[in-house]
Amino acid sequence: KKKQKFDEITKDFLIDTDGLRKIMVLLEQAFDKGLAMETASSASVLMLPTYVQSIPDGTEQGEFLALDLGGTNFRIFFVKIINREMKVKSTTCCVPNDVMKATGEELFDYIAKCIAEFMKEHGLTKSKSLPLGFTFSFACKQDGLASARLIAWTKGFKASGVENEDVAELLRSACQRRGDINVDVVAVLNDTTATLMASAFERNSCQIAVIVGTGTNACYMEKLEKCGKLRKGIDFEEGTFDEMCINTEWGSFGDHGELDWLRTDFDQQVDEATINPGHQLFLKMTSGMYLGETVRAVLERLTREGVLFGGQTEGISKHGLFLTKYISEIESEFIENDGTFPKTLQILKVMGVEEVSQLDCIRVATICTLISTRAAHLIAAATATIIKRMGKPFVSIGVDGSVYRFHPTFSRLLDEKISELIDKNLKYELLLSIDGSGRGAALVAAVAMRMNKKFH
Ligand code: BG6
Ligand code: GLC
Repeated sequence: KKKQKFDEITKDFLIDTDGLRKIMVLLEQAFDKGLAMETASSASVLMLPTYVQSIPDGTEQGEFLALDLGGTNFRIFFVKIINREMKVKSTTCCVPNDVMKATGEELFDYIAKCIAEFMKEHGLTKSKSLPLGFTFSFACKQDGLASARLIAWTKGFKASGVENEDVAELLRSACQRRGDINVDVVAVLNDTTATLMASAFERNSCQIAVIVGTGTNACYMEKLEKCGKLRKGIDFEEGTFDEMCINTEWGSFGDHGELDWLRTDFDQQVDEATINPGHQLFLKMTSGMYLGETVRAVLERLTREGVLFGGQTEGISKHGLFLTKYISEIESEFIENDGTFPKTLQILKVMGVEEVSQLDCIRVATICTLISTRAAHLIAAATATIIKRMGKPFVSIGVDGSVYRFHPTFSRLLDEKISELIDKNLKYELLLSIDGSGRGAALVAAVAMRMNKKFH
């Protein structure tokens, strides 16, 4: 009877290959809409132009500062590029929760303070103005490399007065307010673009980047002829490059109802408790910020139905307490499978769940596996959509993000499912990209400097 209940509640998390193929068709349509149209109301997937029109060619040189804001950590980098070699120094700073939700001025003052400390530590304060590439991992409307208007905050950030503003300008002003640092914000880019550039610097077959971390997203090199919303002579020069890196913002796929047939009651429940209900529905089914909470929601329901923990809902009913990293820890223990579950028991104990049997541990691990597998398969369908769309005989894909990096089976499941979903004549490889944000931002800053020199 309990088994029956368990199967009934969990079956909706399985997506078969036909379902994944259906997602590919719907996502492709959303891509086309996004490329044709300007506003969010007409397309769920924004397909944002990045104004990056080529991957690195190896001639990039110089010294750069880079910032990475919007993933698990806020990081600052000093990058030297000489003769195709990159030397990177970096530091990780934490953005306190209250700063994430303060005013924009406070957030950017905090960032400028961290930059000042970093520069001082590395003896950079007195040197000439350093070009800075800013990896800002949120959806932004750009009209060139050096400016980016935030469309909407996601992933728990909520600083007031930043939406619709140019974040490059906010950063410049904060640096000026301090007066003790000399930086020149020459490029703003998404973390996917940074990852693509960094991976392409290593391997020039790289034309796609995917992030599966706190959030999820992808970018790829798209033919200009497919970007109806880009204007000749304004957004691109004719006769130079024939492609542009497009930041898909695929996290908001589903926001126009495209995934309603697939979303479970639990996905709805998780979405309703967020600060942006109804938005970023694909992201909420696939990324680190929400996977743990989805598992918790299922565990809570199974407990209420008497299937788990002797029906004791205390502990398991507290929102946000089941962290996404627990999924990796529990699944890793389950894979090792020696029949004991000390880690799982410890995690549940920390949450305040006391009555846990061995069968409960197995069921908890099964739920974790179901939800992480669904995420991997959804990301596979989305990645396969891009590979198919590009139609290259061979393409490399730079991948980063904590879920991809640290979950025990995610990378394998992703790879296996992509191969199943694409035609056999299309070949690809997934490349783990580390520190892409810093190296990629430096590369785009180098490109921006080169373009400035050409125009002035
Ligand atoms: C990092 C990249 O390693 O991965 C960041 O350098 C990116 O730019 C991040 O935002 C995404 O993963 P997470 O898990 O930190 O959100
Ligand atoms: C969110 C952001 C996107 C970013 C992704 C991964 O989806 O909207 O810009 O690339 O998270 O960090």
